[in-house]
Amino acid sequence: MKAARIHAYGDPSEIRIEDAPLPTLNDDDVLIRTVATSVNPVDWKIRKGYLKSYIPYEMPLIMGWDVSGIVEKTGAAVTKFKPGDAVYSRPDIRRNGAYAEFIAVRESEIAFKPATISHIEAASLPLVSITAWESLFTTANLTSGQRVLIHAGAGGVGSIAVQLAKARGAHVTATASAAKLALVKSLGADEVIDYRCQDFASVAKDMDVVFDTLGGEVQEKSWSVLKPGGMLVSITDRPSEERAKAEGKRAGYVFIDPNAAILTELARMVDAGQVRPVIGAEFGLNDTAKAQELSETGRATGKIVIYVGHP
Ligand SMILES: NC(=O)c1ccc[n+]([C@@H]2O[C@H](COP(=O)([O-])OP(=O)(O)OC[C@H]3O[C@@H](n4cnc5c(N)ncnc54)[C@H](OP(=O)(O)O)[C@@H]3O)[C@@H](O)[C@H]2O)c1
Repeated sequence: MKAARIHAYGDPSEIRIEDAPLPTLNDDDVLIRTVATSVNPVDWKIRKGYLKSYIPYEMPLIMGWDVSGIVEKTGAAVTKFKPGDAVYSRPDIRRNGAYAEFIAVRESEIAFKPATISHIEAASLPLVSITAWESLFTTANLTSGQRVLIHAGAGGVGSIAVQLAKARGAHVTATASAAKLALVKSLGADEVIDYRCQDFASVAKDMDVVFDTLGGEVQEKSWSVLKPGGMLVSITDRPSEERAKAEGKRAGYVFIDPNAAILTELARMVDAGQVRPVIGAEFGLNDTAKAQELSETGRATGKIVIYVGHP
């Protein structure tokens, strides 16, 4: 099969478009024919070797841990899916990813794709949606009427987080640069902050939840906008428990695993018109290196998708 692989950690020039063996299937695996995949920052972080002490990858490695496609074949123990089903998944990052014509994914990590959107759109959703869901709902327990500040509301995670928070009935404030404020408003943000012209910490206040997608100084300054008892939940730098305690606030940290139950509920919300994919750029498999370079700028709008093949 055709795949984009790396044989060593390094810069985008390490990505080779080449023939790779078809994945072998375990009994609980589904072989998915990839229609589309998408790029997440974790892809290029892994390519650069940042996660190598955490996950000992064998080379060559296929990156890309989002997939939307068609079931080609099922392992002997699979009961939920059959060949021809349209599915989507955020598969296990410890295995080969979906920058390839086929990927083997555990049945438990797969959900039926939303019916009302294309595979290209569906491929943009799994990883960022599970992340936003687990951060806002599972960890911060965001409820209707609460106030939430979402950093980088136009990014891959942020653009879904704004919509999920709004669907939950929260009052949503989100940061973005000027050119992206209209997009963030169209996703449902009640208030937007141009973070380059305004100090968010002097504008936002009394937040029940801050969703930190940036870390560093942004996280540091975020404590001050929380009300007493409020939660700072991050997906980048783990927030200090000591600081939280000292301020009478709470700290949360999320690093996601596959979650088909969330994807099933998300598909229902997409088909009900409550959440829409936000795609800022589309590439072909041959241009995977360019797609990762764009992600690495940190300036992407919504998701960067990679189209692999039919339908
Ligand atoms: N822990 C986990 O399980 C997990 C899961 C998913 C992602 N992550 C991590 O979360 C981070 C975000 O991921 P992502 O996919 O959303 O990234 P992304 O799509 O690449 O984010 C890009 C966006 O960030 C915005 N941005 C950059 N600096 C900003 C600032 N100071 N204030 C407001 N917006 C700013 C950019 O807007 P402008 O162009 O307007 O600046 C751009 O729209 C990454 O580090 C990723 O690795 C962690």
